[in-house]
Amino acid sequence: MTATLYERLGGAERIALIVEDAIDRHAVNPALAPRLYGRDLPRLKERLVQFFCAGAGGPQAYEGRDLRSAHAGLNVSEQELIAAMDDIVAAMSAHGAGAAEVNEVIAILYSLKGDIVRL
Ligand code: HEM
Repeated sequence: MTATLYERLGGAERIALIVEDAIDRHAVNPALAPRLYGRDLPRLKERLVQFFCAGAGGPQAYEGRDLRSAHAGLNVSEQELIAAMDDIVAAMSAHGAGAAEVNEVIAILYSLKGDIVRL
């Protein structure tokens, strides 16, 4: 059987490192940094790790809100979504993810656009 995306990425430990790195990049990305002001970052990080793990086929349960509710009222722009995806690609590459896995994650994130952007 083909390994799940979760397994190919290196499981929860590697995904947590990728999420942490991506948040660090968001914090110094001028397109995104203001969005992080005043947020509970340890909690956000925990939720993002759960979301990423569960979405990639891991055993974790996602305990956060559905994406549409989480982003409602934020009026996230397409430019911000691309900026976030750029940081995620950079974080994945920095932690040794392969091109196939990066492309898979990008395709999944793009498919979520309607529940994130312009709400
Ligand atoms: C790349 C695709 C994205 C995914 C998969 C994603 C996923 C998530 C998840 C899982 C949460 C946690 C929800 C919860 O705790 O209940 C969250 C919260 C949040 N997201 Fe996103 N997000 C994405 C893009 C963005 C973008 C581009 C922005 C804005 C520039 C953004 C702004 C936020 C903010 C501000 C919160 C915290 C909301 C709060 O604390 O109430 N997200 N996101």
